[in-house]
Amino acid sequence: MKSKVIITALLCIAFGAKAQVNEMVIEAGKPLSDVSKEMYGLFFEDINYAADGGLYAELVKNRSFEFPQTLMGWQTFGNVEVKDDGPFERNPHYVRLSYSGHPHKHTGIENEGYFGIGVRQGEEYRFSVWARGENTSIRVELINPASMAEQQAFASQVIKINSTEWKKYTAILKPAQTDEKAHLRIFLTSPKSADLEHISLFPVKTWKGRENGLRNDLAQALADIHPGILRFPGGCIVEGTDLDTRYNWKNSVGIPENRPLNENRWQYTFNYRFFPDYYQSYGLGFYEFFLLCEDIGAAPLPVISCGLACQFQNNSDDAHVPVSELQPYVQDALDLIEFANGSANTQWGKLRSEMGHPEPFNLKFLAIGNEQWGKEYPEHLAPFIDAIRREYPDIKIVGSAGPNSEGEQFDYLWPEMRRLKADLVDEHFYRPESWFLSQGLRYDNYDRKGPKVFAGEYACHGKGKKWNHFHAALLEAAFMTGLERNADIVRMATYAPLFAHVEGWQWRPDLIWFDNLNSVRTSSYYVQQLYAKNKGTNALSLTMNKQAIAGQEGQNGLFASAVYDSGDKTVIVKIANTSDTAQPFSLNFKGLKKNQTIAGISLTTLKSDNPDAENTIANPSAVAPVEVPLAQSISGAVYSGEIAAQSFAVYRFGVK
Ligand code: AHR
Repeated sequence: MKSKVIITALLCIAFGAKAQVNEMVIEAGKPLSDVSKEMYGLFFEDINYAADGGLYAELVKNRSFEFPQTLMGWQTFGNVEVKDDGPFERNPHYVRLSYSGHPHKHTGIENEGYFGIGVRQGEEYRFSVWARGENTSIRVELINPASMAEQQAFASQVIKINSTEWKKYTAILKPAQTDEKAHLRIFLTSPKSADLEHISLFPVKTWKGRENGLRNDLAQALADIHPGILRFPGGCIVEGTDLDTRYNWKNSVGIPENRPLNENRWQYTFNYRFFPDYYQSYGLGFYEFFLLCEDIGAAPLPVISCGLACQFQNNSDDAHVPVSELQPYVQDALDLIEFANGSANTQWGKLRSEMGHPEPFNLKFLAIGNEQWGKEYPEHLAPFIDAIRREYPDIKIVGSAGPNSEGEQFDYLWPEMRRLKADLVDEHFYRPESWFLSQGLRYDNYDRKGPKVFAGEYACHGKGKKWNHFHAALLEAAFMTGLERNADIVRMATYAPLFAHVEGWQWRPDLIWFDNLNSVRTSSYYVQQLYAKNKGTNALSLTMNKQAIAGQEGQNGLFASAVYDSGDKTVIVKIANTSDTAQPFSLNFKGLKKNQTIAGISLTTLKSDNPDAENTIANPSAVAPVEVPLAQSISGAVYSGEIAAQSFAVYRFGVK
């Protein structure tokens, strides 16, 4: 038998015979379940310096002197004191700069930013500070401490401080050079002292030009995906290492100057990647998240604490709020819905309105808890569900299936979520290649009667390879055909994590990498984008030998799915070829009406000859989608093509 296979293979090579055609049948005339509007989405967590030092465009670290080491991130020189009776109740620290005692000696402070401060020549940067002092002044400079130039400073402004009451002062800095590792230096330039608080530097050109805004290139990368949903603000940071450090959304709204600092658990989660200066300023808070959702057309999906601190890090009851004492947590959930949707006459709707958004944010989904498990979780979830159903019956509640894609906790939690009537269940899977290859049919046999599925965190973690290499992305694309085919039950999906600073990451792979000036979209990014931009409106049946095309035996490593887009009357077919050989295929369009033809065909492929290829800051386009020219129509109802080895293809067929 074995020798017969070898002989056949040799004959094929000798005579240049083509591999057998993979015959696919598409029921083009029978739209199935709608594809959820929330497919495909984003999951934002402040990990890898995703918020402070990343998407949040603030360039000054520890701007309010509230880090536990009050001067972390700052160097001081001359006569500098830290005081703690400042104008912002929840951030009381500030610095007093006083005369050094000699006209030639300087007093001042210098901020190192996040791995330096990235600025571009000729762009404008808005410096601001809350200050008080009697006829005094400061000089603000951008410098490079490692500079060999005669002058360290390449931008400079003098600010006169003329009030003994706290007042906000601003100045525009325009750097004469591009610098990824600048520092912000402030000199006292008068013999009279000056008090300084909330020292801030933002690019003027933030996303949508907002003053407390987001870094343009990073926000644009999110918008360019065309996401259906944005899950925020985490992840494990929602739970906290302990209850005190959980993400409390109420601390993240109101004026940025008065949002209290929180620690960031990713500072110390992995002791082999320790970042002692990693905190959450909450400058990017819930109001900004809701605005971002609105800007990029994604439905907001906030996640809030269910009163269980991280169960990986705690096994004691101290880390859990007793169910009898959960009311304040439940109230936080109700208040959040009011903040997002309530009228300006309500307490929290009023705050939203005062912050600049009188219209509601149209919140429809709320997730309670992140990766929770054990009987504690349903016990804690139940009171939230009761209260939300009572007051806001239209809100869809997302429960958790725990931290794993299968196993004891998963098997326990799914029936519990059914019993509690959660609307969606959040599944997480960071799994190796073999898992992604074997899960093509994962959702085909899911129970259709209970909650829907939210694939809330997933990524292919390749073993022994580069982390964001093309092959991992290809397997994600292959797996996602199963999400698309099961559009009736899989209603949301978000890759994780989203962002990583090249110098400050704790977790990889990630969707988008960045340094202080540039960002790079990974192969996985392009997979997500291809799905989101081609999600269609309805699933279509696509089979080979009457079977789903999901890498099954005899399917030559192919995974495929199809949707119909009723807007532009297009059939969209996605095929991932995970095999090492090109695969010819035919697509038989069934169910087209007599007067209908296929015309207007396009093909976009994502491929690389090197499975280890990855996009980097230095080479950001090693792997990118390419549109391939094709004949524009077919005669009859069968399209024939070939999909390259190890590639992902998206075909769009116009139906005329
Ligand atoms: O995405 C990184 C982490 O992975 C998330 O915080 C957590 O939910 C999961 O364990």
